[in-house]
Amino acid sequence: MTTVTAPTVTRLGGRIGAEIGGVRLGGELDAAVVGEIRTALLTHKVVFFRGQEHLDEASHEAFARLLGTPVAHPTVPSADGRYALGIDSHHGARANQWHTDVTFVPAYPAFSVLRAVTIPPYGGNTLWANTATAYSHLPAPLRALADGLRAVHSNEYDYAALKPDALPEALVQYREVFTSTTFLTEHPVVRVHPETGERTLLLGNFVQRIAGLTGRDSRALVDLFQAHIESPENTVRWQWRAGDVAIWDNRATQHYGVDDSDDHERTLRRVTVDGDVPVGPDGVPSRLISPDAVPEPAFGIASGASTTA
Ligand SMILES: [Fe+2]
Repeated sequence: MTTVTAPTVTRLGGRIGAEIGGVRLGGELDAAVVGEIRTALLTHKVVFFRGQEHLDEASHEAFARLLGTPVAHPTVPSADGRYALGIDSHHGARANQWHTDVTFVPAYPAFSVLRAVTIPPYGGNTLWANTATAYSHLPAPLRALADGLRAVHSNEYDYAALKPDALPEALVQYREVFTSTTFLTEHPVVRVHPETGERTLLLGNFVQRIAGLTGRDSRALVDLFQAHIESPENTVRWQWRAGDVAIWDNRATQHYGVDDSDDHERTLRRVTVDGDVPVGPDGVPSRLISPDAVPEPAFGIASGASTTA
């Protein structure tokens, strides 16, 4: 009989983030421990584990299955037929914009499990922001305004605006793959979290515009709400070491990968698990505008393929 010791949960910030100790992650984890991790994750929105160097592709995926059904990225193929997506500094786009993963489809992932393989000697931190506290700390008139808005998200956005320099060839190639299918999805700006019941702000860099508004009004409103999400008090910053694992509730966070480690190698692997279709405070679900359906990826099920609310 194996002895199960209770994990330790140490808060990192006032509004977001906790480090969990005393756990060796993998597919064999005791159900009670998985339950404690899930509770900590829903409470603190992102949780961190040091010293998980024993994980490989298979055990990373096996652990993620304890949180839900792994899903493939809707357009970016996995290199080796597994669910893990490479996040590689030498291979395409960097995530140095605030975003929630894959919000250009309706049922975007519930959780992401990110494992650090190679970490640069400096920089390359990741920040997370709590989109539930960003909402709850808004003044009442702004909460009421947000409650009534919907926004159109797309995977096709203006890359040249992000990288004013000439686009490197790798980024051009990545863009072609990333946008091989162009998705347009309308989400409520305020999502009611399916597990906690909290209201969260659903924005980030896949937002094209607020539905029904002109470009200028749309930009002003997105900037207004996004500033509350990105406020330093509302964030936590993690300095990676190889073997670290971060898990975040993708329905209650945005994140930002800081692009400050020059040309040093930085490699992480991400497994995402399936989410459900968001609903707003009025009960109206998100809807896919185009294409007619989320296409099947090369294997497995697509992130966002779920149609149930
Ligand atoms: Fe991301």
